[in-house]
Amino acid sequence: MIRLEHINKTFSDKSGLIHAVRDVTLRVRPGEIYGIIGHSGAGKSTLVRCVNLLERPTSGQVWVDGVELTALRAGELRKARKKIGMIFQQFNLMAGRTVFQNVAIGLQYSGLSRAHIRERVERLLSFVELEGKANVYPSQLSGGQKQRVAVARALANEPRVLLCDEATSALDPQTTQSILSLLQKLNRELNITIVVITHEMSVIKKICQRVAVIEHGAIAEENEVLGLFANPRQQVTKDFLYTTSSLSGVYPLVREDSPVVRLKPGEVLLLMRYGTTQVCQPLVSRMSKQFDLEINILFGDLEIIEGAPMGGTAAIFHGTPENIKSALKFLEAEHITVEVIRDARMA
Ligand SMILES: Nc1ncnc2c1ncn2[C@@H]1O[C@H](COP(=O)(O)OP(=O)(O)OP(=O)(O)O)[C@@H](O)[C@H]1O
Ligand SMILES: [Mg+2]
Repeated sequence: MIRLEHINKTFSDKSGLIHAVRDVTLRVRPGEIYGIIGHSGAGKSTLVRCVNLLERPTSGQVWVDGVELTALRAGELRKARKKIGMIFQQFNLMAGRTVFQNVAIGLQYSGLSRAHIRERVERLLSFVELEGKANVYPSQLSGGQKQRVAVARALANEPRVLLCDEATSALDPQTTQSILSLLQKLNRELNITIVVITHEMSVIKKICQRVAVIEHGAIAEENEVLGLFANPRQQVTKDFLYTTSSLSGVYPLVREDSPVVRLKPGEVLLLMRYGTTQVCQPLVSRMSKQFDLEINILFGDLEIIEGAPMGGTAAIFHGTPENIKSALKFLEAEHITVEVIRDARMA
């Protein structure tokens, strides 16, 4: 449905040349929900804007639904773009227009009669569960409702593809879930292919089948979502996976200097993360015995991805400096990723 071939995009500004997208080649299959995840500045928005040529690639080709957009003239491109809907983090609704008018905007020059437009807008508002809101203004809506209006507007021209640029990033977790469910519904019921841009792995996990991780404008890794969770190859991917885990709850405690993470002299607070093979072993109890340590577990997390466990532990280690050092060596030998969060060994 979408085919990007060797897409590059550079911007030049005062500080020089910015290579925002680097040689990206990817395919999105018909009916798929495809995720693109990356840190801020990785080039996600630029890349997705290259799909509908809101941003013209510096080089490379873009194909959507069998048509090479990069070869079209302005008039043809305008027409082709109607088959690609887009929603944004900030909704981009027109504040001076009602919900009805916002949804109907794209139908202005469609040649549809007023009655047809009314009928279609009403059907769309019912699809996004906003019946009864046709005559209110965006300022009278919650964030989630605004995004529903934006979805209805994006669907007005019956697109084959929907591009979502951080569509849930301005919403609370519960509203995020309801918008993600809406995206799933339009994917299944209207057979719309979706590209989801996000910096949250939880979004990818909830609705995507495949995902590309982008870093510095290039694809660092691409995989089925389950494959990515089971076998992340790049560090950037691992970092994203860990953000979905409850282990990251240790960081705010440290920032607030919570009593839970206050150390006695000689103690150290460690975050250990392990992949699929190590987690089956009783590492903590083994270290405790072997190195005569007291280990106080603060957080533990375990996820089963395709039958294989993956997780980690945040714990305070209490023991002699030599024994703690030996335990760290032991963890390293077991290929466990260790992060020293707090260290009172010199205290
Ligand atoms: N119009 C522009 N002119 C100059 N530089 C730009 C322009 N648009 C984007 N960039 C630069 O390109 C790089 C990628 O930006 P982009 O907005 O695509 O990142 P992103 O992954 O969407 O980030 P975020 O998660 O913060 O939205 C950044 O270094 C950005 O400053
Ligand atoms: Mg962006």
